[in-house]
Amino acid sequence: MNIAIDGPAGAGKSTIAKAVAKELGYIYVDTGAMYRAIALYILENKIDVEDEESVCRACNEIDIQIKHEDGIQQVYLNGRNVQADIRKEEVGNMASTAAAKKPVRDKLLTLQRNIAETNDVVMDGRDIGTFVLPNAEYKYYLTASVKTRAMRRYKELTEKGETPDIARIEADIEKRDYQDMNRDIAPLKQAEDAIYVDSSDMTIEQVVRFMCDRVK
Ligand code: DC
Repeated sequence: MNIAIDGPAGAGKSTIAKAVAKELGYIYVDTGAMYRAIALYILENKIDVEDEESVCRACNEIDIQIKHEDGIQQVYLNGRNVQADIRKEEVGNMASTAAAKKPVRDKLLTLQRNIAETNDVVMDGRDIGTFVLPNAEYKYYLTASVKTRAMRRYKELTEKGETPDIARIEADIEKRDYQDMNRDIAPLKQAEDAIYVDSSDMTIEQVVRFMCDRVK
């Protein structure tokens, strides 16, 4: 059984997908984390992301592994746990740029399909319902307004003791939406058979309930 949850940055996909997976006893697979691991490699090794040959070479040097420890996904980049390092803002922005490149998408597609073939999964990302798992039994497109998503991110960073700039967060979200929705390969869009969920005025619990109640 596979559940696909797609949607733009900051829509709450990972929080919701994690909770849905826990309730149903499935494995949660965060595909954004895989793109982030590749982005981290690109940043750390100062690879020119616009140079196709360099990106291709980097993809051949990269080994990404997903493990679940106490039900929580851990991403390993060439044997190193990079779970904490990939959460940085600059890594997310680079992930969005790198995700438009064919060698990067090809590399992760096989990995994602393999995991879904051998497990019951709740997989979140941008192209899961449309491209990675077109036959997923349940598909959701989870979104929220740019203002709501920016405010959620702002609160998250403030709680961590940072002093973020809300206008900057909004601009980053808009840029990422644009890149993710307008790239040539597997752009973010709602699958025809996905259920649209706007979480702007919903609590996490309401969204989780809504999704779980539909799964038989
Ligand atoms: O969900 P996230 O913010 O961790 O994802 C980081 C970037 O990775 C996102 O901006 C676009 C890319 N991505 C993708 O292209 N396809 C996916 N299935 C998941 C993420």
